[in-house]
Amino acid sequence: MKKKNIILIGFMGIGKGTTARAFSQSYNVYIIDTDDLIESKENRKVKKIFEEDGESYFRTLEQETADWIEEQVSGTLISCGGGFYKVDNLSDIGTVVLLDASFEWIYDRIINSENAKKKLKKRPLFKQPKEAKSLYEQREKAYREVADVIVNVEGKSMKNIIEEIDSKS
Ligand code: S3P
Repeated sequence: MKKKNIILIGFMGIGKGTTARAFSQSYNVYIIDTDDLIESKENRKVKKIFEEDGESYFRTLEQETADWIEEQVSGTLISCGGGFYKVDNLSDIGTVVLLDASFEWIYDRIINSENAKKKLKKRPLFKQPKEAKSLYEQREKAYREVADVIVNVEGKSMKNIIEEIDSKS
């Protein structure tokens, strides 16, 4: 049975965190972020975890986090790291909402943001645009397959995006 959480998935830099915060303010819902949970439990940044222990270790941490969320969390908006969609119990955690846009739109969003350098620095898998694009292409279909709801964010105001999430989830 599904728990009443909303799970926000999508590619790095699409704006899951920003969207989650806007949703939280408008609908008075608490949010948690899977990268934040992992960083606080490990007491080190995602970037450090990748450097020190590698990606596959980070993925096991994501699965542990998913198991904890499934057991402990309800009525919450969960903002996920871009690879979190691979956990094996995603659909048991809540309604899966995919934020969707083209790679070019996502890339421009990052590059044109005020803190572009910081955004790129904290994302080890976004270091090389070419590699990031190929990762996007590999994941595109899989994201759609696990999603209960797809919200295209290109050209939409934040107000429209969060209203769409609310009405469809
Ligand atoms: C990742 C996305 C990141 C973070 C880690 C791996 C991915 O989160 O979890 O760097 O595999 O797409 P954001 O989507 O918040 O950047």
